[in-house]
Amino acid sequence: MTRSPERRIPTEVDFDHLDPAVAEDVYARLGVIRRLCPVAKSSAHGGFHLLTGYDEIREAAGHGEIFSSYVHGLGAADVVAEEAGSDGNPPPRAPLFEFDGQAHMAWRRILRPYFTPTAAKEHESLIRRLCRETLTGFAKQGRADLVTAYTQVVPPIVVAALLGVPESGRELLAEHAKRLVAAESREEAEKRGREYAKLLLGHIRERAGVPRDDMLSDVIHADLGAPASERQVLRFAALMVAAGQLTTTDAAATMALLLAENPDLRDRARDSPKVLEEFIEEAVRYEPAVAATGRAVTRPTMLGGVRLDAGDRVLLAWGSANRDERHFSDGDVFRPERGRTRPAHLGWGAGAHRCLGRHLARLELRVMLQELLAALPNLRLRADARPRRTYGVIRGVREVAVEWETAS
Ligand code: HEM
Repeated sequence: MTRSPERRIPTEVDFDHLDPAVAEDVYARLGVIRRLCPVAKSSAHGGFHLLTGYDEIREAAGHGEIFSSYVHGLGAADVVAEEAGSDGNPPPRAPLFEFDGQAHMAWRRILRPYFTPTAAKEHESLIRRLCRETLTGFAKQGRADLVTAYTQVVPPIVVAALLGVPESGRELLAEHAKRLVAAESREEAEKRGREYAKLLLGHIRERAGVPRDDMLSDVIHADLGAPASERQVLRFAALMVAAGQLTTTDAAATMALLLAENPDLRDRARDSPKVLEEFIEEAVRYEPAVAATGRAVTRPTMLGGVRLDAGDRVLLAWGSANRDERHFSDGDVFRPERGRTRPAHLGWGAGAHRCLGRHLARLELRVMLQELLAALPNLRLRADARPRRTYGVIRGVREVAVEWETAS
C-alpha cells in the first residue's frame, strides 16, 4: 500500500515525544528526521515507527483497518484519566476514539449531532459569558499569565457542558481538570487523573439508571449490539475531556502567545473577523495542539518503502506533516494570511478519525480570542517572559506572561 518503489531500512532516530527536552526545537528536529527518513524508528517506549511525512501520515490515518486507533503506551496515560484500581490489563476500547471500521462509523453516527456547526453555535453564548466573566476578574491587574488566568479556565466548563454535566457540577469538574493539566510529572498526572475519573464516574452512574437528553446518556444507552461497559464509558468521557479541553486550552495559549508577540497582527486580528479566522486556521497548521497520536499495525504492510509488521506501533507527528516541503514550500513560516491550504493541512487530523470537534474548536477559539482582544486591546508579551513549550500528544505552552495598560 505504498507509492514508494524501493524498500528502505528505517533510520534509527533518538526521539522521544514525551521527553520535555524535545519541546523547544521539536519542529527543527522533526524536519531533519523527515528529510532523512519519513518513516523512522525510535526505541523510546518499547519502540515505535515515527511518521513525519505528509503522505505517510495521511496514508496511515486513511487505513484504519491496517492502522488501528486502539494503541497503548505512546502517551495517552499522560492525558487521560484512568480508572482507580485498574487491573494492569490493557484498558477496554473507548467508544468512538479507539474503534476502527464499521464500529467506529456507528459511534460517529451516534455522536455527530453534538458536533455539527449548528450544535457548536448553541454553545456560543455560554462561551462568551464565561470569557467575559473570567476577563473581568483580572482585567484591572495590568499583567497576568494568560494560561492560568484564562486559557485553562474556559474550555473545561465547555467540555463539561458538552458531555451533559448540569451547570451546578461544571465548576467542580473544571477545577479537577485544571489540576490535572497542571501536573508536573507523570505520577502526579495519573493520581489527579484518578480523582478526576471518580467525579466522572458519579455522572455516569447517575445516567445509567435514568437516561437524560445528553451525550453521556447516549453513549451509555447506545444500541450497538452490546452496551458499552462502565469502564468504556469512563474512558470515553476522559478521552473527550482530553480531546476537547486540553486541545483548546493549549491552542488558545499558543495563539495568545503569537498575538502577544506581534502587536501588528494582534491589532489586525482584533479589528477584522476574517483576519482572526485565518490566523486561527494557520496557527492550527503551524502549531497543532494535537501534535502526535499513535496507531497499532494490525497486519504486515509497507509504508514509505518500510516494512511494518502486525503489532508494530506508529506515531503520527501531525505538525511535521504540515511543514513537509514536498507539499508546503514555506511550511516552517507562520503566514497568518495563508488561508486554507491545498492539500489540506493535517492539524485537524485525517481519515475516519478526523477531528469531530473542529467546528466547536474553531468557534471556541474565535470567541476566546475576540473577547481577550476586546478586553485587553493593547496586551503584549512581558519583556521578562520565558514561554516554555510543551510537546507530546498535545503541544502547547506552559505560561504566557503578558501586560497591558489599564484605564485608571
Ligand atoms: C484546536 C483544537 C483541536 C485540535 C487541533 C484537534 C485535533 C484533532 C486531531 C488531530 C484529531 C485526530 C486524532 C487521531 O486521528 O489520532 C482529533 C480527533 C478528535 N477531536 Fe479534536 N481537536 C481540537 C479540538 C477539539 C474539540 C474542542 C473537540 C470537542 C470536544 C474535539 C473532539 C475530537 C474528537 C471527538 C475526536 C475523535 C474523532 C474520532 O475518533 O472519530 N477536538 N482532533
